Amino acid sequence: TLVPVVMCGGSGTRLWPLSRETYPKQFLRLTGAHSMLQDTVQRLQGLPSHLARLQAPVLVSNKEHRFLVASQLQEIGLSGQAGAQILLEPQGRNTAPALTLAALAASANGADPILLAMPADHVMKDRTALYQAVEQALPVAEAGGMVTFGIVARSPDTGYGYIERDAAYPLGGWQIASFVEKPDRDTAQRYLDSGRYYWNSGLFMLKASVWLRAIGMFRADILAACQQAMQTAATDLDFIRPDEQAFHACPSDSIDYAVMEHLPRNPQAQIPACVVPLDAGWSDLGAWDSLWDVLERDAQDNATVGDTLLEDCRNTLLFSRSRLVAGVGLENIIVVETPDAVLVADKNHAQSVKKLVAALRQCG
Ligand code: GDD
Ligand code: MG
Repeated sequence: TLVPVVMCGGSGTRLWPLSRETYPKQFLRLTGAHSMLQDTVQRLQGLPSHLARLQAPVLVSNKEHRFLVASQLQEIGLSGQAGAQILLEPQGRNTAPALTLAALAASANGADPILLAMPADHVMKDRTALYQAVEQALPVAEAGGMVTFGIVARSPDTGYGYIERDAAYPLGGWQIASFVEKPDRDTAQRYLDSGRYYWNSGLFMLKASVWLRAIGMFRADILAACQQAMQTAATDLDFIRPDEQAFHACPSDSIDYAVMEHLPRNPQAQIPACVVPLDAGWSDLGAWDSLWDVLERDAQDNATVGDTLLEDCRNTLLFSRSRLVAGVGLENIIVVETPDAVLVADKNHAQSVKKLVAALRQCG
């Protein structure tokens, strides 16, 4: 059986002022009628049934957002335990603990399903390509491997993990020579130039037991804390709540740092790390420039959302929530209007919004 795991407990600070602590980016409707979380869940529901016995997804989110998650699921016709299990973290501990909680929940009844772990902050234009990649990955996961899905690198972006491809793996995809999470600019440029690297899409596929073995091997402290938290988990309404105190003691780390970087260097772990190429019109929507990238654009490469007006602008994104936003003679500019804050930025500096948010937090 195949259990999708949707990780939706992040904060998405680079999309400020739209993305807020109380309303992070995976819940926003940026590109259409549905939020990125809803798109993610619907995309997973479309997985062809012949692939594997597809089970209801497990969502892992922050408890602060439980009603947002539940109401967004309800909007797309999914509610209750039958539709999806929702695991609530008392506080974010990054993706390694999130996946560990999900693996423990999914194997609680003695089952050992294949997990398809998926971030909830992506756009994917071509679902068929995703389904084909998942199909290609299944035999590898079935045989006890850990599959990543690689995007052909387009720029030396430092916000991604980089996967170095090795020889073809007999069961599908490629062996991984090395995995480097968020390298610095120069390293990323070298990787790009070599032509041997993929970006990590953030999707992972492997058996629940294989994940638990991997995290136990490289981060026994995380496994122990999560086991403890699940032993005394409470269930109410549609939610599973791991024990607060036990989870509070859990160290914070990402799947990428905690496990992926180590696997290719540790063959004695006997968990083959593979990469399956994914060409699905994938975009991370990490920052405002990537929203500009996925939106439809006019002849001068301008993209607009909401009530906007442009004159002599090029390469510009105008995003309006509550008022008319008008731009004249702008080039390479991002304007995001919300009722209580307006962002004006150079499109080449979209990543720095993160610093701004950090500064804002400092001021309280
Ligand atoms: N439940 C839960 N708890 N989910 C979390 C937590 C947490 O503490 N932290 C993050 N997430 C969710 C986010 O909401 C997002 O959907 C997903 O996990 C990935 O986390 P990000 O924080 O967005 O990771 P990233 O973008 O910096 O890096 C990851 O994704 C890149 C591709 O977009 C890595 O896997 C990179 O290697 C990869 O290239
Ligand atoms: Mg992300």
